[in-house]
Amino acid sequence: MKTEFAPSLLASDFSQLKDQIQLIKEADYLHLDVMDGVFVPNITFGPGLIKAIKKHTALPFDTHLMITKPERYIKDFAEAGSDILTVHLEATDHIHRVIQLIKAEGIKAGVSLNPATPIETLEYLLPELDQVLIMSVNPGFGGQSYIPQMTEKIAKLNKIIEANNYDCKIEVDGGIKTFNLKEIVEAGADIIVAGSAIFGAKKPAAALSEMRSIAADV
Ligand code: DX5
Ligand code: ZN
Repeated sequence: MKTEFAPSLLASDFSQLKDQIQLIKEADYLHLDVMDGVFVPNITFGPGLIKAIKKHTALPFDTHLMITKPERYIKDFAEAGSDILTVHLEATDHIHRVIQLIKAEGIKAGVSLNPATPIETLEYLLPELDQVLIMSVNPGFGGQSYIPQMTEKIAKLNKIIEANNYDCKIEVDGGIKTFNLKEIVEAGADIIVAGSAIFGAKKPAAALSEMRSIAADV
């Protein structure tokens, strides 16, 4: 399967969002990191901003909710223009119900796992998921270092998905750069999130195409 790329808006220049989004129009998705200052120690943006930028791009919106009790806001983020909504397993007591809420909005549903959360927790959910987002840093900030043990976690999840023929993509998020991209794709990542490696580069479009060519060689 062709590797897809989801640049994270978190690393962009927030004073020029409209122009920043144009720089990565060759991407497959726009990754939107929503943080509430409770589930993670940082606050970013909400549905109002997502709705405002939706009109400036045709890219599908891959919204990553790092918020406590996401069930309270599924409708808001769907109506704001999210095409995929990913919630954290650790942020709700009723993850299956949240997945159903997302699907009822007619959009794709994903579950994200913090680095310390084992993939076995998703065993009974995988048949219903469009994607699993493996956090390869502790959520909350861009620009952190990739946690090396996450490569084995990706490979393990990939084996389970392939063995059962599940229609579920693996997205990996955090600390992905040109130097470690190959091992992550080899392990089974389908979608790569990259913030600082793309928006932090002098030429984001060139950084994206360099990452694409590395992934294509795997
Ligand atoms: C972290 C976010 C990531 C972050 C990735 O909590 O979920 O999406 O923006 O940034 P980099 O690629 O810089 O690690
Ligand atoms: Zn993210």
